[in-house]
Amino acid sequence: MEIIIFDTAAQLDEYGANYFVNTVKQKSNAVLGLATGSTPIGIYNKLVEKYKQKEVSFSGVTTYNLDEYAGLPEGSDQSYAYYMNQHLFSHIDIASNQTHLPNGNASDLHAACKEYDAMLEKQPIDVQLLGIGHNGHIGFNEPAEGLQGGTHLVELKAETREANARFFSSIDEVPTHAITMGVGSILKAKTVMLVARGADKADIIKEALTGPITTKVPASLLQTHPNVIVLLDREAGRWLA
Ligand code: PGA
Repeated sequence: MEIIIFDTAAQLDEYGANYFVNTVKQKSNAVLGLATGSTPIGIYNKLVEKYKQKEVSFSGVTTYNLDEYAGLPEGSDQSYAYYMNQHLFSHIDIASNQTHLPNGNASDLHAACKEYDAMLEKQPIDVQLLGIGHNGHIGFNEPAEGLQGGTHLVELKAETREANARFFSSIDEVPTHAITMGVGSILKAKTVMLVARGADKADIIKEALTGPITTKVPASLLQTHPNVIVLLDREAGRWLA
């Protein structure tokens, strides 16, 4: 595991974006695993900049997102599909049929999970971008006695709904369920890039990266992966430095 602690957010974003740019330059049909939340926004902004400066083309790239809420109204501003369009897809040259998110509006959510896994099986992820929840979740894989390998429907923990309530007008509007890629699928990515920012992530980063490997801290399973890069700002990395 390679851990890099950056002095400034701009340096972290530049490094993260360059990693994706270099991946795509080396393999124009790379498969990228993407994430939502506040953590990746700076990296996406830099990617858009680099695309506009003609440093990189995404025309051959395929993307798979980690997760999506279940049951939000179609086209909802809070959906992760909307987020991805707003922060990345609508600004770069990627065809919409090459971008994938779990279908949280499918009439059969379990069948939608299976379809997602079948696609991932055919197109293994080269680099998977991850944020981390305060409780150690990755994607929506919440702390539990056991974790599921494949894509599945989850009931969100109260703390996750509270953390995400800032994107909704009230906590009652935060969906109770979501579809997420499983930890098994995440660990199948050739490279995992875990990113965290801010002092509020320092404790969970230390626990996940240096504590025991346990399903109670889903991100701790990344310690078993042979190729993980961790990008931290100074605050999130304060207990590791
Ligand atoms: P955040 O969320 O990027 O908004 O902090 C990360 C996560 O919950 O996985």
